[in-house]
Amino acid sequence: MEIIRTVDGLRKRVAEARANGKSVGLVPTMGALHAGHISLVDRARKENDLVVVSVFVNPTQFNNAEDLATYPRTEEADCAKLSQAGVDIAFIPSVEEVYPEPDTRVFDLGSVAEVMEGAMRPGHFNGVAQIVSKLFAIVEPDRAYFGEKDFQQIAVIRRMVELEGFKLQVVDCPICRESDGLAMSSRNTRLTPEQRQIAPAIHRAMHDSLEFARTHTLAETKAHVVNEINGHPQMEVEYYDIVDPLTMQSLENWNDAVNGSPVGCITVYCGKVRLIDNIKYNLQ
Ligand code: PAJ
Repeated sequence: MEIIRTVDGLRKRVAEARANGKSVGLVPTMGALHAGHISLVDRARKENDLVVVSVFVNPTQFNNAEDLATYPRTEEADCAKLSQAGVDIAFIPSVEEVYPEPDTRVFDLGSVAEVMEGAMRPGHFNGVAQIVSKLFAIVEPDRAYFGEKDFQQIAVIRRMVELEGFKLQVVDCPICRESDGLAMSSRNTRLTPEQRQIAPAIHRAMHDSLEFARTHTLAETKAHVVNEINGHPQMEVEYYDIVDPLTMQSLENWNDAVNGSPVGCITVYCGKVRLIDNIKYNLQ
């Protein structure tokens, strides 16, 4: 595996591969890699000749300085995992390399970016659009891979791709979970052992609500999930919204979703650690 730290170096290397008729897959990450990230890499490996993984903790998407400062950084371990997974290129640039000048672009992301994470973390999705659009412009991948763990992020990226006219396929990949159901996340390493023990209650409550939903209204189901999770010490739900899977807009009734099954999206503070997860209500 090649480690490339400059934009020019990456551009050249990808251009070479493309000149040889190779297809290119890109997996953007912020490092602290776990099996969830690697599932995206595996998928990219199957579908492309050249696989590029970026490892970059993007400062412009953090709306909280402490979150940025404490974000786990594990470059050596990340490179070992990527190399093991058969990645061709790890792109690991510095902040100065990616942002030689401040990025002042404001994307018109519309309503998909205004709700949930967009409402709770002002500027977050604009920062995601900045970095992902830069990566797309440098690599010009045929396919780019994103996890459904960040369900709203995929909708935002699709919107950005449409706005910027990128010719690539956005591939969404299912959530990987620990054996006790907790969605894998780089932030899980910040949980205390006690918090780590109770955190699976998030997925358990959401999963149990699939059955509950069959005989209850959407509002009752939302309240049920929130009460269940808030009943645990150290856990507090920030929001639980059940939304249309394309528009991300909050639904009032189960049959209001016109673009597929409703998706419940949650954010929970477990102590100081902010965890997100989601689940599909396939009520058919
Ligand atoms: P990061 O949190 O590192 O996640 C990188 C990719 O891995 C995202 O597409 C995310 O949805 C996916 N992922 C994380 N945990 C997962 C899990 N348990 N199962 C499946 N996929 C999972 O998301 C970002 O970085 C950044 O916002 C980024 C897109 C790289 C832009 O900076």
